[in-house]
Amino acid sequence: MTSRRIPAGADPVRPGPDRPLTIWVDGEAVTGTAGQTIAGVLLGAGRRQWRTTHQDGAPRGVFCGIGVCFDCVVEVNGLRDVRACLRRAQDGDVVVRQGGPVAVGERAGESGGTVAPAAGRDGHGEPEVTR
Ligand code: FES
Repeated sequence: MTSRRIPAGADPVRPGPDRPLTIWVDGEAVTGTAGQTIAGVLLGAGRRQWRTTHQDGAPRGVFCGIGVCFDCVVEVNGLRDVRACLRRAQDGDVVVRQGGPVAVGERAGESGGTVAPAAGRDGHGEPEVTR
């Protein structure tokens, strides 16, 4: 998969001026354009993976791109398990790569328990919730 960014002025869907932004990914500045998702900024910067699976440390980035698979989760401004493909990047966002179990309380506003990555070897499917 390759990524390609259309300049905002040439975007046939929503043309407008480019407004640059900078997010911080593991302490490194990554530039993008207002309107991009965090995944869009990362892909535009040539990054294809930013998470590892809990079970075998396999690399993950965007898989579905529509908020279904949870492959792209990152920590944003201290909040874990944010789907990078859905979260619109804001200038100054602090993004941290994450691995390991997904905490239910931090994701859904509930308390207690964790969500482990899917049982399948590829890490896809429904997460397993433990309490
Ligand atoms: S890529 Fe599937 S949820 Fe983000």
